[in-house]
Amino acid sequence: MTRIAYVNGKYLPHDQAAVHIDDRGYQFGDGIYEVVTVINGKLADQEWHLDRMEYSLGQLGIAMPMTRAALKIVINTIIRMNKITHGLVYFQITRGVMPRDHAFNLLLKPQLVMTAKPLKRLESPEINPVKVITVPDQRWQRRDIKTIQLLPNCLAKTKAAEAGAYEALMVDGDGMITEGSSSNAWIVTHDGELITRPTSYDILSGITRRAIIALAEKRNLKIVERAFTVDEAKKAAEVFVTSATSIVTPVCMVDDQKIGNGDAGPVATALRQSYFSNINETAAE
Ligand SMILES: Cc1ncc(COP(=O)(O)O)c(C=O)c1O
Repeated sequence: MTRIAYVNGKYLPHDQAAVHIDDRGYQFGDGIYEVVTVINGKLADQEWHLDRMEYSLGQLGIAMPMTRAALKIVINTIIRMNKITHGLVYFQITRGVMPRDHAFNLLLKPQLVMTAKPLKRLESPEINPVKVITVPDQRWQRRDIKTIQLLPNCLAKTKAAEAGAYEALMVDGDGMITEGSSSNAWIVTHDGELITRPTSYDILSGITRRAIIALAEKRNLKIVERAFTVDEAKKAAEVFVTSATSIVTPVCMVDDQKIGNGDAGPVATALRQSYFSNINETAAE
């Protein structure tokens, strides 16, 4: 089957899809993106992802390339054309195309690219716990904007891969964990409290984070939104990360420290299962 991508109004074979070399996304990382997962043919948390997309665009002064309703049609078309039942839709909106100059023209036409691909790991809630490492957080001060400018995140994730780990948790100047290179970070204390950093300019306000808070509240779990240290994570009963493609992924090792007995923790496992069950009840087709 030919993989199909969407580029500014056209559906094209993936290997023929291309953008202009003067696209400000290519030149400066001047754009934003979203990743929405498809689980069992359903789009997970689509409206929340579109809300955050509009927020990111607004913060950077980039216009919507089309109405939200039209965007949803493109999303559904790309899923259908690529026959995705379990996978992801990626879309990015860049400011536009102009001769290279740091200062941008305010009237550029935003560029939209969309792709989709299947993901085996979204086929079932079963998962093995993963290792994470800790690295300094080297990013800019507006991490709440889901910009395509991801170099520090890429460097962190590559360090993790080199260490045989799934994710790198980034640590701020005060020794507190901000988040993962492409996920939000959580711990469960020995008293059963669920702790995750509050949203601010310091982290991306994860859509899965938001969904998991809602599911945890339904289960009457105690949630405390506060920053936590690397040491707290290493001594926690459980550690896990959340993101659209990781859902809830339990962590068995932080640097060289084993977490609990090294198995997936009960809280992370229950929340992951709830997320999958909930998709079947609530998500958009
Ligand atoms: C830096 C960062 N934090 C958190 C997340 C999790 O966000 P979401 O749950 O919306 O995928 C991501 C996802 O890509 C991310 O890149």
